Amino acid sequence: MNTRLSVNINKFATLRNARGGNNPNVVKAAIDAQLFGAEGITVHPRPDERHITYQDVLDIKKVITTEFNIEGNPSEQKFVELVLAAKPDQVTLVPDATKQLTSDHGWDTIQHKDFLIDIIGTFKKAGIRVSIFIDPDLKMVEAAAKTNTDRIELYTEMYAREFAAGKKEMAIQPYQSAAKLASTLGLGINAGHDLDLYNLHYFRQHISHLDEVSIGHALICDALYLGFENTIQLYKRQLQIAV
Ligand code: PXP
Repeated sequence: MNTRLSVNINKFATLRNARGGNNPNVVKAAIDAQLFGAEGITVHPRPDERHITYQDVLDIKKVITTEFNIEGNPSEQKFVELVLAAKPDQVTLVPDATKQLTSDHGWDTIQHKDFLIDIIGTFKKAGIRVSIFIDPDLKMVEAAAKTNTDRIELYTEMYAREFAAGKKEMAIQPYQSAAKLASTLGLGINAGHDLDLYNLHYFRQHISHLDEVSIGHALICDALYLGFENTIQLYKRQLQIAV
């Protein structure tokens, strides 16, 4: 199967906000990413709007020709309203705290089952596909399937850390088990966090039913040296199993 590359463009907004003004222009970044081959655009608005703003999300929605994925914590009513107004192809629910630097854990799908069933129902009723961010833990995958979510997004920071430490066989194992169980239970599988040009291909090779990866930080860092268009193509190449 083809694994889609969704490019997270939050870092463009971080750079823009450092100086005020509109350079770089995040709407143009979305248009260019698509032009350069991205098969999706991801944004992660946070309640303090420190990078992508809520207005950016609405502006970007107007230019999306691929898949639009909005990530965030649905405990914030403002986030729920934004997603319902923007109507992306997919919403990825992430249990991050307001001031958190970046996402650092997945949902406890057992403890938050009722909340998730409720909010997932709201988004699905609006025709928006739902993915929930979880650790590669079989109990969490099993309970995720009971929330009616369409997909799970496997939180790959632990994989990336162990891969970098040279323990790639150990790193991939929990993700393989989680993905196998998820596809048996009928869930689609996304993955993201700390994926990069070095660890992406091994991950793709070992997770057979991988629908989408969403990548921000490393891809944008690479683009500073290699150019945005070239970098997107290099990441897409890593997603081809037979490279
Ligand atoms: N998936 C989720 C849920 C995230 O919160 C993030 C970071 O915003 C990513 C994927 C992308 O992670 P990275 O920026 O490390 O590629």
